[in-house]
Amino acid sequence: MSVTDILESMEYGPAPESPQFVNEWLDHHQRRFGQFIGGSWVQSNESFEVFNPGNGSVICTVGQTDDAQVDAAVRAARTALPLWQGLTGEERGRYLYVIARQIQKHARLFAVLESMDNGKPIRETRDLDIPLAARHFYYHAGWAALLETSFPNHQALGVCGQIIPWNFPLLMLAWKIAPALACGNTVVLKPAEFTPLTGLLFAEICTAAGLPAGVVNIITGDGACGAALVNHPDVNKIAFTGSTEVGRIIRRATAGTGKKLSLELGGKSPFIVFEDADLDGAVEGLVDAIWFNQGQVCCAGSRLLVQESIAEKLLKKIRARMENLRVGDPLDKAIDIGAIVAPVQLERINELVQKGLEEGAEIFQPTWACPREGWFYPPTLLTNVEPASTVAQIEIFGPVLVAMTFRTPCEAVELANNTVYGLAASVWTENINLAHDIAARVKAGTIWVNCTNQFDASSGFGGFRESGYGREGGPEGLREYLAASFQPVSETSNLANESKSPGPLTPYPLSPGGARGELDRTHKLYIGGKQVRPDGNYSFEVEGQEIARGNRKDIRNAVEAAQNAAKAWANTPAFTRAQILYYLAENLQDWGPNPVFECAAMTDKFEGSVHEVPMRGFTYTRNEPIGVIGIVCPNSTEGLLKLTCMAIGMGNTVVVIPSSENPIPAVELYRILEMSDIPAGVVNIVTGLQDELIPTLADHDGVDSIWYFGPPEGAADVELRSCGNLKQTWATRYEPWLDIRYLCERATQVKNIWIPMGE
Ligand code: NAI
Repeated sequence: MSVTDILESMEYGPAPESPQFVNEWLDHHQRRFGQFIGGSWVQSNESFEVFNPGNGSVICTVGQTDDAQVDAAVRAARTALPLWQGLTGEERGRYLYVIARQIQKHARLFAVLESMDNGKPIRETRDLDIPLAARHFYYHAGWAALLETSFPNHQALGVCGQIIPWNFPLLMLAWKIAPALACGNTVVLKPAEFTPLTGLLFAEICTAAGLPAGVVNIITGDGACGAALVNHPDVNKIAFTGSTEVGRIIRRATAGTGKKLSLELGGKSPFIVFEDADLDGAVEGLVDAIWFNQGQVCCAGSRLLVQESIAEKLLKKIRARMENLRVGDPLDKAIDIGAIVAPVQLERINELVQKGLEEGAEIFQPTWACPREGWFYPPTLLTNVEPASTVAQIEIFGPVLVAMTFRTPCEAVELANNTVYGLAASVWTENINLAHDIAARVKAGTIWVNCTNQFDASSGFGGFRESGYGREGGPEGLREYLAASFQPVSETSNLANESKSPGPLTPYPLSPGGARGELDRTHKLYIGGKQVRPDGNYSFEVEGQEIARGNRKDIRNAVEAAQNAAKAWANTPAFTRAQILYYLAENLQDWGPNPVFECAAMTDKFEGSVHEVPMRGFTYTRNEPIGVIGIVCPNSTEGLLKLTCMAIGMGNTVVVIPSSENPIPAVELYRILEMSDIPAGVVNIVTGLQDELIPTLADHDGVDSIWYFGPPEGAADVELRSCGNLKQTWATRYEPWLDIRYLCERATQVKNIWIPMGE
């Protein structure tokens, strides 16, 4: 073939990266690995094989950690805690810095090993996975040094159990371990069974960095091993990334245990292209969005939403680009798409595509064939897809793009939000106003404007809705590994109820009032801005007053009212919300000192920030409302007022179940709310017996977060019931509402919006 021929066809030759280093490393270990526990290597009785997806061959065997070894790892982490926490933040930061340097020094070994283990192209491991992992340790080395000044009154949680998936093995490890260590925790981390190898190499890095024994423990094994870690009683925090299904199992398993939990789950992220977008840029963005890492990315832009006027033009460009993509040996530097991690995953992709075709989708795949050896799947485009169809709703986790059209920006937002997920979104338009508007309206933790799949340690990552909760990266990511130590609840508060003992509960309908000709006056519920009688017409008596006893229908009505009011209230400017709360504070003056003034003050101060990410551009964050918050109130009036006002101050709507023992302040409150400017449905109050009402509220899929203050059995119940729609939970007997910033954090979720700069 002549040079002219090559230039004509633009055919690439192979450019293979050598696996020699990796083979030497594997041979050095006799291709057999145990667990890294307490700074030493421990063999397991059982083991499993690890495969190279690029050619299907066995790379090595790895130990299956049994329950006793999980226990040993947790104990090692616990033993290491005092020493690790005895260091200053700066001293811990130095260790993280050394780890970052070690990752960089061994970057090639890591990159090749990752590609062999996972099947992802060497270009990606070399240019993205490994550098980003190192960056994460550098970034958190800095946070460790700044921790005491930046997070005063916070302490580490203790032993953290961390479970990661197979799609970004080293990067997910870094996302988990770096912040945990920076905050003074010790960890037991379990890599996914398909891809344990860079985790094991990382264990060696820890030794090389001189990290004290037991600070990091790496255990390998399957889901049973993960479950043993989750269920271990001496673990203080579980951090999980993986499927939504397993996330639910873990939520259930940790309910009522007091373990802090962060979940980074699946997604079905929209890639929205408006008619004024730079279409060639969007096509390249799409390649990155859905064919990066074979589409096995939780935030993959797997749903293309394109404005109808340019749909055909864009799809034509996409098909042409797909024809030029190269699938092949992950170690070949000239390929775009590598191998699928395992045959079971390949099968899942095949099945879902088949299902899509049965439901009427049309398929486009390039004319070329994938390599026969190894586990490959071609880039695939599905059109003629209905928004409700399986392939538009379910995470395929493969190189499969589904395309749909829209006409107006509103329709784009509706389609974008039309799944249970909310992990990320990509918005393509040259119109700055439209970009920011869509970024604000799409429910997702990360929005990329005219870019996609950008990650950085400074920019927190995590989901809304069933994509999970908690963030990794940024200051908000650190909070996942810290506990705040608050002052006790004020003893000097002179609010209505504090010193009163609650009256007896009468859980049956009372005899009608009217003695001596007085009119019967049963307090009502407050739903949708109106006083309403309880559905069952029942009441109960507290301190001689008849309190409406709501039932599950009342809760459902209240949730509906809160849902109806949510959008408009969330879009009401913070300044306006603050003014409305000030007005409420004025009207509550007769109650004595109360926290509403402070809540009003905070409402327009809890602002987002700007991050310096390593690209020409920046990310800005918005502290967005969570949606509908169900509040199961504690006994104190301060709690009732502060929880309600700060939740709505942050733009949420609420369904409040006041204390059954002390409901009178709540019924007095709604009379004042009625005269306030708070729109109907923003605050809904359902009095009654809390135990009767909680199940309906905690089960309700229209509730996005539930706050519960009470005994541990109740907390366990609420957490268990949250599994349905994976609503966020804040369930505690502790009443830390003196810390207003903490309250704001609980009432919001961080959205990171990436804005590139340049022509
Ligand atoms: P998975 O969620 O089962 O596995 C993730 C991790 O959890 C692995 O380390 C696994 O060993 C562990 N695990 C499994 N069962 C567990 C349990 N009961 N308790 C504790 N840990 C447990 O994901 P899998 O089976 O590898 O992939 C299935 C599907 O999940 C994929 O097709 C994809 O749709 C989705 N997925 C999503 C990921 C994401 O980042 N959002 C990552 C991996 C998979």
